[in-house]
Amino acid sequence: MIKIAVMGFGTVGSGVVEVLAGNAEHIARNAGSGIEVKYILDTRDFPDSPYQHMLTHDFSDIENDAEVQVVVEAMGGVGAAYEFTRRCLAAGKSVVTSNKELVATRGQELLSIAQSKNVNYLFEASVGGGIPIIRPITQCLAANEITQIYGILNGTTNYILTQMIRNGSSFEDALRSAQSKGYAELNPAADIEGHDACRKICILSDLCFGKNVDPACVSTEGITGIHSEDVVLAGKGGYVIKLLGRALRREDGRIHAYVAPHLLSESSLLAGVDGVMNGIVVNGNALGEAMFYGAGAGKFPTASAVVADVIDAAKHLNARKPLGWDEAEEDYVAPTEELVSRWYIRAQATEAELKALYGDVTVLEGAAEGECAVITAPISGKLQQEKAEKLTVFAAMRIMD
Ligand code: HSE
Repeated sequence: MIKIAVMGFGTVGSGVVEVLAGNAEHIARNAGSGIEVKYILDTRDFPDSPYQHMLTHDFSDIENDAEVQVVVEAMGGVGAAYEFTRRCLAAGKSVVTSNKELVATRGQELLSIAQSKNVNYLFEASVGGGIPIIRPITQCLAANEITQIYGILNGTTNYILTQMIRNGSSFEDALRSAQSKGYAELNPAADIEGHDACRKICILSDLCFGKNVDPACVSTEGITGIHSEDVVLAGKGGYVIKLLGRALRREDGRIHAYVAPHLLSESSLLAGVDGVMNGIVVNGNALGEAMFYGAGAGKFPTASAVVADVIDAAKHLNARKPLGWDEAEEDYVAPTEELVSRWYIRAQATEAELKALYGDVTVLEGAAEGECAVITAPISGKLQQEKAEKLTVFAAMRIMD
C-alpha cells in the first residue's frame, strides 16, 4: 500500500480524495499497489466529512512521516504551497499539483530540487484541467520540434464568452454562474484578466521550447474589454471571439508568448470549443497539427489529472521521470508588437477613412451609426497601434489564422 497526503481540502483536494476512494480498485490495478490517503492538511475542520479523521492542521505530520511517499499539493497560490512543496521534495517525497501559478513561477527551481532528490514533481492538472496535455507534449510528441502551441486555456472565460455569444447573457451573470459551478479561481480577476491563461501558456511554452518563460514577460489581456457589439459583428463576419494563450517559435530562436482575445473563423476547430471546455492545438514538425480537447476546469476533471499523476508517481517511486527546462536569455520572449496578424478593428470612422489608413480591408456589416468595423490585411502589432492612434478605436483584436 502506498501512503499519500493531500494538502488543501478545497474543490480540487476533495475531488482527489473522492476519486481515490471511489475508483480505488481500478486505481490499485493501474498503480500496481493500493493508494491510501494518510493525511489531509487544511487549516479548516470538516466535521461532517467522512474524511475528517484524516485531517491534520500540522504540516510537519506529513513532512516527518517517512511512510508518506507522494504528496498532492492542492492549496493554490505561491506562499505556503511553495514552502511545503519545497520541503516535501527536499524530504524525498514526490509532489503532484494542479497549481499553475506555482509551476509557472517556481517550476524550474522545484523540478531541480526533485531531480537532486531523485523524486518527481508532476503537474498534468496545471494546464487544461482534465485534458492530457503535459504528458503528450513531453512523451508522445517528444520526437517533434514544436513550432507553435495555442489554445483556449481558461474554462471560466470560455464559459462566460459562450454564455454571452450563444445566450446573450450579461458578463456578470455568466461569471456568477461559473463561480457557483466551481470553475473560477478564488479571485476571478485571475481568470477574466487573463493571468490564469498566462500561467498556463508559460508552462506549455517551457515544455515545448525548453526555456523558462516568466509570466511577467508575457503580454496579457483578458476579456473585460469585450463588448457585445464586437461579439455580434464578429458573428456576422463568420467569426467567434475566444481568449487564446499562444506561444510560437521564431526563426531567430526567440519566441512570442502572449494571451489575448482573438477572432477565430467559425470553421476552425477551436471555434467549436464552448462552455468550460478547453482546446489546445499543437504544431509539430513531424506530426503536423493535433488538437487536445476536454473539460478545462471543475472538481472531478481536475482530480482525474491529479490522480493520474499520483498513479504515475507511485509507479516511479525510485525512478525519476526526466522533466524540466533551462534558464532563458533576458530577451528570449520577443515583443508581441513584432508579431504579424490580420486584425479586427472597430472605430469611430467611415469606411473610406479606414481604407485610407489600413489599405486593403474587409468591411463587416452592421456597425453602429458613425462606426465602422473591418478586418485588415496582415500587419504587425506595432504598425496596427501606430495606425490606431490616428483614430478613436473601440476594439482591436488579432485574427487567428
Ligand atoms: N479557473 C481555471 C479555469 C481553473 O477556469 O480554467 C482551471 O485551471
